[in-house]
Amino acid sequence: MFRLDDRLSLCASFVREGVSLADIGTDHGYLPIWLLVNKKISYAVAADVREGPLDRARMNTERYGLTDKVKTVLSDGLDNITADEADDIVMAGMGGELIAKLIDRTPWLRDSNKNLILQPMTRAEVLREYLCKSGFCIKEEKACISFGKTYSVILAAYDGTIRPCNLKYRYVGKLDGDKSAEAKRYIYVVNEKLKKKLNGYEYGTEEYNSVKALISELSELTDTEE
Ligand SMILES: C[S@@+](CC[C@H](N)C(=O)[O-])C[C@H]1O[C@@H](n2cnc3c(N)ncnc32)[C@H](O)[C@@H]1O
Repeated sequence: MFRLDDRLSLCASFVREGVSLADIGTDHGYLPIWLLVNKKISYAVAADVREGPLDRARMNTERYGLTDKVKTVLSDGLDNITADEADDIVMAGMGGELIAKLIDRTPWLRDSNKNLILQPMTRAEVLREYLCKSGFCIKEEKACISFGKTYSVILAAYDGTIRPCNLKYRYVGKLDGDKSAEAKRYIYVVNEKLKKKLNGYEYGTEEYNSVKALISELSELTDTEE
């Protein structure tokens, strides 16, 4: 049996025992296959918008003798998946903006029993802001380092409460206050990106000043040694 890398392992750790899973943008299908082989889940829908990745998922599903437990579906986001097919929904390895868009057009995700496990590759700040403004609660967030890159994985569920989302929360979410080496590294990387971004803002404007203030706040978080 293969091992999941630290990024997919972290996603897997957020999946609840015994649930039905939908893995959106499944590609190779490793996450549902690993969860089924390790008997953490009972059933999975592996979905992808492209036939090529879906074929890979089908091949891997057959290789591990799981064709009766994995339904492979050609689907743009959750468009071809129904509410009764999934309790936990993983969207990993896609951009934060795309993930937000796919959640937004799926009304059945506005259900507190559905857990969303989200791993944005880019623009995580857009996703966190969307979740806060759309009644989704970020219940947990953890960082990991996989093959030298840092990632954040968000566990969210709908509770209907619209939350304020300040600049710091948009960029580091629940990793603020997380003293793990992985969270510190994630915040460090985010801050380095913000420093580059600052050059694009007009000096002295409100936007410039707030990003500059965030940069010094985040520097303090990453400079603190335990
Ligand atoms: C980088 S792979 C990530 C694979 C796996 N989830 C992981 O994290 O390792 C991204 C996958 O998302 C799929 N994808 C992109 N947009 C999608 C959409 N709108 N709906 C479903 N899948 C999509 C791509 O075809 C690709 O297979």
